[in-house]
Amino acid sequence: MRVSITLNGLEAEADCWEGESLLFALRERLGHPGSKNACEQGECGSCSVLLDGKLVCACLVLAAQADGHQVTTVEGLALSGGLHPLQQAFLETGAVQCGFCTPGLIIAAADLLRRHPDPSDAVIREALSGNLCRCTGYTQIFAAVRLAAGR
Ligand code: FES
Ligand code: FES
Repeated sequence: MRVSITLNGLEAEADCWEGESLLFALRERLGHPGSKNACEQGECGSCSVLLDGKLVCACLVLAAQADGHQVTTVEGLALSGGLHPLQQAFLETGAVQCGFCTPGLIIAAADLLRRHPDPSDAVIREALSGNLCRCTGYTQIFAAVRLAAGR
């Protein structure tokens, strides 16, 4: 089936089979590998994207369900030319080690800061609780979100 989405503000189309995930379509058909595939079970958050502005796991959404909707991936946060403030803050604070969790964390953090521009530590922890990181211990990730919120 033909799936049409607005991907990071641009129209995008792909031929997908009916059971294909949005994550697969993004990565393998639409040239957007930023969203990572770690568990494909909705457990790790590495595939997080915004679907019509709502945070979702792209591995749990069918590409067909996204037909006619707007999808924002980590690539879309930087479309204005420079890095998104969260991307810059992750770099500056050393919140990236292997980087596999980073795109999903940045999308989830962007969703958080849109809803809570000045979040408490507890709110940050709750908002990012669906995003697993094996490397950092989270301290620098939370520091990055606080830095971006402050800016
Ligand atoms: S790959 Fe989607 S939640 Fe892990
Ligand atoms: S930086 Fe490696 S999983 Fe988070």
